Amino acid sequence: MKAVVDPDVCQGHARCWELCPEVFSLDEEGHGHVAAAEIPAELETKVREAAENCPERAITVN
Ligand code: F3S
Repeated sequence: MKAVVDPDVCQGHARCWELCPEVFSLDEEGHGHVAAAEIPAELETKVREAAENCPERAITVN
């Protein structure tokens, strides 16, 4: 599974990072980023939860 944050949509709510800091980080402006090219299987549920909880729907998982 892969996850991406659309930088044009992210408004820096930081829920992604709060819910799954193993995958999401925040840049100096507080916008979410995904460093991992591939999400480890054991974190997929948390990443989906983070995507569902982003108020801007900025996170795409596939
Ligand atoms: Fe941005 Fe959504 Fe995370 S707005 S910082 S991707 S919770």
